[in-house]
Amino acid sequence: MKPSPDMKQDVAEILLTEEEIRAKVAELGARITADYTGGELTLVSVLKGSLPFMADLMRQIDVPLRIDLMEVSSYGGAATESSGLVRILKDLSAPIDGRDVLLVEDIIDTGLTLNYLLRYLRGKNPRSIKICALLNKPARRLVEIPIDYIGFEVPDRFVVGYGLDYGEVYRNLRFVGVLRPEAYEEPSQP
Ligand code: PRP
Repeated sequence: MKPSPDMKQDVAEILLTEEEIRAKVAELGARITADYTGGELTLVSVLKGSLPFMADLMRQIDVPLRIDLMEVSSYGGAATESSGLVRILKDLSAPIDGRDVLLVEDIIDTGLTLNYLLRYLRGKNPRSIKICALLNKPARRLVEIPIDYIGFEVPDRFVVGYGLDYGEVYRNLRFVGVLRPEAYEEPSQP
């Protein structure tokens, strides 16, 4: 399905406005600053969906920090999905041993990606590792994940915007919305 030239036409409902997201990111940044004051932090974000959240969150954190970026893809397919196997397309570019790491995610859905990443990153001997997720979709969780900082809980609906895509499109919407079914369902055959 081709996106409408005006992407907003493909959105049925706005769940989180630009202002609500901005206020929440500032609140999360203040909490993280308070928790890490006096220390240093390494933010690790997972491309591509976390990009806007990472960019906004890092500027709301007022302690010295480094950033690193990973990119992963899940293997897909029912059998491999439940195994939680994740392929690393881009690894960390610097060691994290002895560092306080905060993993920054746009959304936690089944939890399989983070479950894998947590194990992988713990194997690199950070001093601590915590998780910050803008969106949490608990209805779809398959594996429990300890989330230290959560922005919003979202219902089990197809959400796009502020980094989240459908078919790689809609990431640049400044709000989080629910896609109209017509935007992702194939038209029925005559
Ligand atoms: C999304 C999101 C998480 C993952 C969460 O990424 O950024 O990494 O899915 O899902 P899970 O909890 O079910 O594992 P996606 O694979 O859509 O890639 P993208 O960030 O490039 O859009």
